[in-house]
Amino acid sequence: MIIALNNKCNLTKPEFITYQKELTHLSTTATLILCPSSLYLGEIAPSSIKLGAQNVSSTECGAYTGEISASQLKSASVKYCIVGHSERRANQHETDDEIAKKIKLLLKEEIIPILCVGEDKTKRQENLQLQVIMEELKMAMKNLSMEEQKKVIIAYEPIWSIGTGIIPTNNQIEEVINAIKKLYPENQVLYGGSANEENIDELKNISCIDGYLIGGLSLKPEKLKIFLEKLEN
Ligand code: PGA
Repeated sequence: MIIALNNKCNLTKPEFITYQKELTHLSTTATLILCPSSLYLGEIAPSSIKLGAQNVSSTECGAYTGEISASQLKSASVKYCIVGHSERRANQHETDDEIAKKIKLLLKEEIIPILCVGEDKTKRQENLQLQVIMEELKMAMKNLSMEEQKKVIIAYEPIWSIGTGIIPTNNQIEEVINAIKKLYPENQVLYGGSANEENIDELKNISCIDGYLIGGLSLKPEKLKIFLEKLEN
């Protein structure tokens, strides 16, 4: 089981220092991946928690002000990197082409991409979720060999569920994850979108889920502890 913690653009430096200490009290058999603000990537104390980034440049090192390259992430011991999060697709206008380039560069540096895909509310209402997701996957994976493809962790994140407290039904999640696994049978698939310590009792009944990508809850170590306990018992 994989639990990836997406802190997004949260926590000042003093807050992050306290937060990091609190995280060390978590005990779990899952692979915990912490994706903090990139500002703190070089400051993580060694622990069993793996290091993830929230973004990477679509270019190699060079004259790209403000960017962080995959080789720089690797040199900071980053092992995973979120790519194609819906917030970046919407706010930074990240394109499928850029996402595909990022994934290729990450794999070259042996960093595992966590590729986010998911439909918005309108596409869900039109019952077009599978078309949207399959197209996003096809575009993101287009530069990859079969061997490379298998390494990508796929995160199903319905956009209408992110940060809203609304989660799909178990059947809706199963429909999507099973469709993804039909085409990408060797990839691990996570669910993300308002997963929390209250709905985990229901979510954990979905056997095809290989883990969770967690936003809001990642900032609350006490509640995260309850989430992990419930997940494992
Ligand atoms: P959420 O965010 O858990 O706050 O809904 C998930 C994500 O955006 O990865």
